[in-house]
Amino acid sequence: MVGDEAPATAVWAYNGAEPGPVLRLRQGAPFRAIVENGLPEATTVHWHGIRLPNAMDGVPGLTQKTIQAGGSFDYAFTPPDAGTFWYHSHEDSLVQMGRGLAGALIVEETTPPAVDRELLWVLQDWRLDPNAQIAPGFDNRMEVAMDGRVGTTVTIHGRLPQTLHARAGERIRLRLLNAAIARIMALRFEGHSPIIVALDGQPCDPHEPADSRILLGPAMRADVMLDMQGEPGRSYRVVDDFYDRLSYTLVRLSYENAPPLRQHPSAAPLRLPPNPVPRPDLASAIVHDVRLQGGMMSGAGMGGGMMGTGGGAAWAINGQSMTGDGSAGMKPLFTIDRGRSCILDFRNETAWWHPMHLHGHSFNIVSRDGVAVPHDEWGDTVLVRPREHVRVAFVADNPGDWMLHCHVMEHQVGGLMTTIRVS
Ligand code: C2O
Ligand code: CU
Ligand code: CU
Repeated sequence: MVGDEAPATAVWAYNGAEPGPVLRLRQGAPFRAIVENGLPEATTVHWHGIRLPNAMDGVPGLTQKTIQAGGSFDYAFTPPDAGTFWYHSHEDSLVQMGRGLAGALIVEETTPPAVDRELLWVLQDWRLDPNAQIAPGFDNRMEVAMDGRVGTTVTIHGRLPQTLHARAGERIRLRLLNAAIARIMALRFEGHSPIIVALDGQPCDPHEPADSRILLGPAMRADVMLDMQGEPGRSYRVVDDFYDRLSYTLVRLSYENAPPLRQHPSAAPLRLPPNPVPRPDLASAIVHDVRLQGGMMSGAGMGGGMMGTGGGAAWAINGQSMTGDGSAGMKPLFTIDRGRSCILDFRNETAWWHPMHLHGHSFNIVSRDGVAVPHDEWGDTVLVRPREHVRVAFVADNPGDWMLHCHVMEHQVGGLMTTIRVS
């Protein structure tokens, strides 16, 4: 994982590949995967972001029984939306995802946009020991109540990033997937202006990211169009500077000396073809409060402001802590009639960031701190800042019990999780 001089890192993998094989599906075409569990423990596979039937969602205890060691499960669904999605374990998720059980799932557009090249970066973050092995100590109580297990090493496709060679003038479609269990990323492309054309697989108004940084919480994806307008022969850095004092160069873009492929950026349209996601009706939508609670208070001492010190859960939603990887037999946060528009009114009462993820649906981002968002954008995961108030809206058109949880794995297993019921 960290280069040829270092020992190979032992991981848990799908089909022996780290990350798992890139699954390329066609929009509207049936897909089937027979998962055989060769792990020493039970597992499930979740198809993150795909609007699929509840029974195929891969949530233990909620949508299926776990796949025991030696057992298998047959997943089958037809992806309605084109876009950048992914799959990962949903059982013992902190450890299983932390050991590498994740991969990209791309649903191809029937008419893809005109680009010169397409690239996929599956970004993962690992805490490695000096022998390049995954460090033990998942579920450290301090980390559970703080940022989670932010690692030491960020990889692209399971390897330390190699220099990316580019030709001046080319247009690259870059699919970004943050498959880390805890690390939030803010990617800055020196000397370039990437345009975001889709978020979490759903096309958005093409726009430059705020602050010129592509902000990706765990589980989030962005499709960007990158016009390579740098100078032949020069090299530029892609920097992740999300955490103060932890900024690093993710990868370098190095230009060949060849003359530019074209003099001006490609004039091909940036907007992706729309997906058949229903647009919620805000006027008639039912509003549900989702208050995010708990965690260590910044500035406070150990235990100051932390919920349930002494064995209790570190986090809660509306005062309830659902811990683990599935429903744990708890009542849904709310029930909504199928077909109704729903607003999730997130209020982050904590001092920490939370990428909040809803299964089975894609939502429209409505507002942040009461201000309408500047671009039409959708997601299945919304990154909620400390103390922020975020509204998202969706049509509850997919029947079943669906998880709603933070995708920082320690936060999920530590109680920042609930379910909603569409009936
Ligand atoms: Cu990608 Cu319930 O998760
Ligand atoms: Cu999901
Ligand atoms: Cu969180």
